Amino acid sequence: MQPVRDLCWLTKQKKPGAFSTFSIASDGPLAKTIQREFPELFKGVTQVNGEASVRFILVNDAILGNEGFIIAKTTDGFTVHGASEAALLYGMFALHRLVNTDADTFPYLSVPDQHLRMLNHWDNFDGSIERGYAGESIYYENNRFRGDLELVRQYARLLASVGINAVSINNVNVKKLEAAFITNTLPDIKEIAGVFAAYGIKTFLCINYAAPMRVGGLLTADPLDLAVIRWWERTVAGIYAAIPDFAGFLVKADSEGEPGPFTYGRNHAEGANMLARVVSPYGGLVIWRCFVYNCAQDWRDRTVDRARAAYDIFKPLDGSFDDNVALQIKNGPIDFQIREPNSPLFGALEKTNQILEFQVTQEYTGQQRHVCYLVPLWKETLDYDTKHGAGAYIKNVIGTQSPTPANSGVSAVVNVGMDANWTGHKLAQANLYGYGRLIWDNSLSSEEIAKEWTRLSFDLSEEDAAKVATIQTASRAAYEDYTCPLGIGFMCKPGHHYGVDVDGYEYDCWGTYHYADREGVGRERSVATGTGYTAQYSKERCAEYESLQTCPDEFLLFFHHVPYTHVLQSGKTVIQHIYDAHFEGFAKVEKFIALWKSLEGKVDEASFLNVRERLEEQLRSAREWRDQINTYFYRKSGIGDEKGRLIYP
Ligand code: GCU
Repeated sequence: MQPVRDLCWLTKQKKPGAFSTFSIASDGPLAKTIQREFPELFKGVTQVNGEASVRFILVNDAILGNEGFIIAKTTDGFTVHGASEAALLYGMFALHRLVNTDADTFPYLSVPDQHLRMLNHWDNFDGSIERGYAGESIYYENNRFRGDLELVRQYARLLASVGINAVSINNVNVKKLEAAFITNTLPDIKEIAGVFAAYGIKTFLCINYAAPMRVGGLLTADPLDLAVIRWWERTVAGIYAAIPDFAGFLVKADSEGEPGPFTYGRNHAEGANMLARVVSPYGGLVIWRCFVYNCAQDWRDRTVDRARAAYDIFKPLDGSFDDNVALQIKNGPIDFQIREPNSPLFGALEKTNQILEFQVTQEYTGQQRHVCYLVPLWKETLDYDTKHGAGAYIKNVIGTQSPTPANSGVSAVVNVGMDANWTGHKLAQANLYGYGRLIWDNSLSSEEIAKEWTRLSFDLSEEDAAKVATIQTASRAAYEDYTCPLGIGFMCKPGHHYGVDVDGYEYDCWGTYHYADREGVGRERSVATGTGYTAQYSKERCAEYESLQTCPDEFLLFFHHVPYTHVLQSGKTVIQHIYDAHFEGFAKVEKFIALWKSLEGKVDEASFLNVRERLEEQLRSAREWRDQINTYFYRKSGIGDEKGRLIYP
C-alpha cells in the first residue's frame, strides 16, 4: 500500500470567503487541468460558465510572453490573464500561493526569467536512485514501470505549481536496460510524458551514447558513421511517432566511464550535432553535459587539475554547436560541493546555449539527513557577475543573452522519491520549492522563499514561522562551517559521500585533493605558481582570484595553498578560522534543535518527529566533522586553538 502523500506546499486551502466560483474560456488540455485542479486546490469552489469570481482569460500581450501571467483583483474576486493555457495554469498556482500567504500586491505580474526550468531524475529501472535520499523511484521498480500515474500526476502538479516546465526521467548514467528505453518501452514513457504534458512539462530521456551498438547491434557508435546516423534517424522517428511532443535527449558522454565521441576521435560538437540534426525536424533539443574530466588521475601528478577540464574541452568549441544543442554546466567546476567558485565556462562561452546545472538532491550537502537549504547557494550563482563589475551575470548568460533563449535555462538533479513526504527530510521540501521559485523569478531572495514555503507548509504564528525560516536560512552556512573549510571541498567518505573522511580522496584517482601538509593546505590554481586555472575566468575575475589580497576567504583554499598562519580578509589566521568555524557550525545545529523542539504540538506530528530525528543525526554527524577536522589540522600544524577549546590531540 502506498503511504499517504504529503501535499507539501499545496496543503493550504484558500482563505474562507475569498471567492466561490471560477470560469475558463479555453478548452485545450491544460485548461482541462485547470478545471480539475482548481476545485481541488481551492476546496469547494465550483466552475461556472457565465460570471464567476475567478476568471481565466487568454490574451495576446507581448509583455507576458508565452508563460507569463497577470492576476488582477476585481470587485468579487480575480482575473488571471495569460497568453497560453500554461500561463493560466501558472497563474492559478500563483493565486493559491498569494491568497494563502496574505499577499496583497495586485495586480500581480509575473514572467519567468528563465525559459527552460528543468529537473533531472537520476532514477534507475531497478527502482534505485543514484544519489537519491528519499526512497525509491516514483517511476520504476524491479526493472519495470511502476505504472502509478496518479503518483506522477501529484508530482507533476507540485512541479507545475513552482513553474517547472521540463523533466528528464532516467539516470544520466544509462545502463543496459535503460539504454533500450528509446526503442522498447515507448508506450510506458508516453504515459508518463502524457501526465507531465497536462501540466505544461516536457519529457526528456537520457541516452547512452553507445546505443547504436548496445541497442542497435552496430559495431560502432561513431557520430560521423552513416550507419550510425541512419540508426538514430530510425530510432528518433519511432520515438516521435509514439510521443509527438517528446522534448529530446540529455547526454552524459565521455564522463566517468560513459561512452562518447572521444572513443572515435570526434569532438563533443561533432558528437552533439549529429544527434541535434536527427531530432531537429521534430523540434527536439539535445542537452549535452560538460561534466567531462579525467577520473583516472594519478594523485602524484600535480599538473593535472580537474577544475580545468570542462573549459579546456568546451571553450574551444564555442560557436560550433547547433541551435538546438544546449551545454549543461554544473554550477561549480568540480562537483556540487557546499562551496565552489562558479564554473568559468559561464561568461567564457559566448555563442553557445547554456543550461546551468544545480543539485537539489543533497549528495554532498547532508543527504537529506541534515537540513541544508540550498537556495542561498543557487542565488549566489545566478547573481554572479562573470566580469566582476561589468554586469555580466550568469542569470543573463543563460537567459536573455543566450543565442537561443528558448533552448537555455536551468536544470537540477531532483531530491524526490517514494517517501511519503517526497524528500525524506520535511525541510528538504523547501529546496524543491525554492529551486522552482528562484529559477522562475531570479529576483526573489532566499529569505522570502523560505518564508513562503514555511507559511504554505505549516499553520504557525508569525513568531513560530520565523523560527522555521531561520533554521532554513542559517543552515547552509552551518553546514559549510562544520564541514570542509574555505572552499577546499570533498573530505567526505568516498563512494557514498556522507560523513567526514579528511583524507578519503587524498590518494585516489578523482582529482579532488586538499594537499594538507605540516605548513599549510589548499590547491594552488594561480597562473603565477599553480595550474593556471584562474586564467579561465574573465580578466577581472582572474585578477581577483589570483591575488591573496583579493581572493575571497570562502574560496581561498580552492585557489591557493597557504600556510596555516596566513591571515584571511576576516583578520583571522587560516588555522583559527578552521577551529572557530567548526565549533560554531556545531553550535548552530544545537540551536536548530532547540528552535525545532519549541515547535512541538504546533507543526503536524509526522513532520515534527521527522525533523527532530534528522536534526539529532545532524548533530551527531556535525560533531564527528568538527572533531575530526579540528584534530586533523591540529596534528598537522601543531598550532593550538587560541581560545583553548577542546581539540582531541
Ligand atoms: C557525481 C555523482 C555521480 C554522478 C555524477 C554526474 O559525480 O557522484 O553519481 O553520476 O556526479 O553528475 O554525472
